[in-house]
Amino acid sequence: MKRKQLTAILCVIILIIAAVTVVSVTDIIGGKNPDRQDQTEDTGSEADKNTDAGENDKPGKDDSEPDTNENSKPDETDINNDSGSGYKSFSLTKNMSAAEAYEYLDEFLNSEYSILVNKQHKVGSDYKPENLVIPSGCDYQMEQTAAKALSDMLAAARADGYSDLILYSGYRTYSSQKNKFETRTQRYLNEGYSQAQAEEKAGEYIAPPGSSEHHTGLAADVCSSKIVSKFGYLDDSFDSTEEYKWLREHCAEYGFIMRYRKDAEDITGFLYEPWHYRYIGVEHAKACTELSITYEEYYEMLVKLRDEAKADAGL
Ligand code: DAL
Ligand code: ZN
Repeated sequence: MKRKQLTAILCVIILIIAAVTVVSVTDIIGGKNPDRQDQTEDTGSEADKNTDAGENDKPGKDDSEPDTNENSKPDETDINNDSGSGYKSFSLTKNMSAAEAYEYLDEFLNSEYSILVNKQHKVGSDYKPENLVIPSGCDYQMEQTAAKALSDMLAAARADGYSDLILYSGYRTYSSQKNKFETRTQRYLNEGYSQAQAEEKAGEYIAPPGSSEHHTGLAADVCSSKIVSKFGYLDDSFDSTEEYKWLREHCAEYGFIMRYRKDAEDITGFLYEPWHYRYIGVEHAKACTELSITYEEYYEMLVKLRDEAKADAGL
C-alpha cells in the first residue's frame, strides 16, 4: 500500500512538471515570452520609422522646419469640435462672446487682407488692388500696408545680420502673369507636350492668370541675393540658407506666412516655393503659423467659425 501511494505521488509530480514544461513551451511559441514581445514592438516602431524616413527623404524636404511635418499638424476638427464651439477654442476668439467673435472674424474675412487666391479662386482680368507703393529699398510694388510690413521685416533682418534678403517680385498685373504663364507653357510645347499637358506643367510653378497671389499686391517673393546670383532665378536651395531660417522664424511677426509648403502641394495647387510669402496681418499670420495649416485650410476654418459664432449669437 505504501509503495502504491509513493508511486501515485511520483506520478502526480511528474505530471505537474510535464504540464509546466508544456505551458512554457507554448508561451514561447505563442510570443508571450517577454523578450520576444519587446522584439515585436521594436519591429513595429522600426517599420514606422522607415515610413517616416521615406516621407522626410522626399527630395528637397526641409527637415529643419518642425511645422512642415504632417505628423505634427494639429487636426482642424480639434479646433472645431472642442467644447462644441470652435470659436471658443480658437486662440484669436476664445475670450470673445459669440457676437464679438462673429464681428471680429467677419471683419477680417471681408477685408482686402484675407482674400484667398488660387486656381479655384481667381480674380478677374480687371482686378487691381488700391494703394500700390514700392517698399523702401525695393524695386517692386506692393499694397501699402504689406509694403510697410515687408520693409520693416527686411530692416529687422538686416539688423540681425541678414542683409542679403531681397524682394524679387511683388505686385503683378493680370497681363504680366499671362505672359509669364504663356512663355512657360510654350517651353513645354516646344518639348513636345500637348497644349493641356504644357499648361498643367507650367501651372505647377507659374500661376495661370487670375490665380496668382501676386495680383493682390500682398505677395512677396523674398530670396537671398546670393541664391539669385548663383542660379539666375529663385531656387529651392534658398531653404538651406541662414537667411531663410531667419525669415521662417520671423515672418509671422510682420504679418507674413510662407504660402506654398512642400507638404501641402496637393492643397495649395503649387509646388514648394520657400520664397513666396503672403501678407495676412500679424494676428492671423501668427495664428495660421501656430496651427501649421495652409491658408486654404485657415480661410475655410475661419468661415466655419464665423458662421458658428453668428448662429450662437442668434444673428
Ligand atoms: N509662383 C506663384 C505660384 C505665382 O505665379 O503666383
Ligand atoms: Zn511668388
